[in-house]
Amino acid sequence: MTVTRLARPADASAIVELLRASILVLCGPAYRNDAEIMNAWLENKTEENMVRWMSDPSNRMIISIEEDSGAVAGVGLSRSPFKSDPAKILLCYVHPKNVRKGYGSSLIANLEEDLKYQGAVDIVTNATLNSANFYLRRGYVAKAVDLNNPISIHMTKSLVN
Ligand SMILES: CC(C)(COP(=O)(O)OP(=O)(O)OC[C@H]1O[C@@H](n2cnc3c(N)ncnc32)[C@H](O)[C@@H]1OP(=O)(O)O)[C@@H](O)C(=O)NCCC(=O)NCCS
Repeated sequence: MTVTRLARPADASAIVELLRASILVLCGPAYRNDAEIMNAWLENKTEENMVRWMSDPSNRMIISIEEDSGAVAGVGLSRSPFKSDPAKILLCYVHPKNVRKGYGSSLIANLEEDLKYQGAVDIVTNATLNSANFYLRRGYVAKAVDLNNPISIHMTKSLVN
């Protein structure tokens, strides 16, 4: 069973470690492990920023807990819809040792469910090149390529059936 809960400031260090490992190991190859891209990507993954992001009332940061060890297996971050700004999934990262165990799907489902409850009609996300298929299989549609660092694919999903 996957245990998911809201992130707390005490989780910040474990979340940073997870994000760094996930970016370097899982995303790196799709970006040719380009040092400039990887460094820019890692730059804002600090404990201070994690606490800031999880404390922002417009955000919701959740973590998956590995059942046996209690370690942080995955992290997700969403942003609530506001006026003309659509709901966003800002982060969905799983530790490399925990991929293909259902954590990513569970994080996305949890974030989507909450955003739907908040009244969101659609969700946007910037998918990494390596995760585009993961999102496509979960109902997201590719809209455009975002050339910012790192290059990502702008995707949307309608929550209205
Ligand atoms: C993309 C990412 C979040 C997916 O996380 P994940 O935990 O591996 O996702 P899941 O395990 O839920 O699903 C991945 C696949 O494993 C399969 N799977 C799930 N549980 C499984 C199991 N017990 N045995 C075998 N396969 C399994 C799923 O069916 C899924 O396949 P599908 O996409 O064809 O449906 C993860 O690879 C990652 O962190 N990547 C790097 C960060 C990134 O790029 N994030 C996205 C941008 S924000």
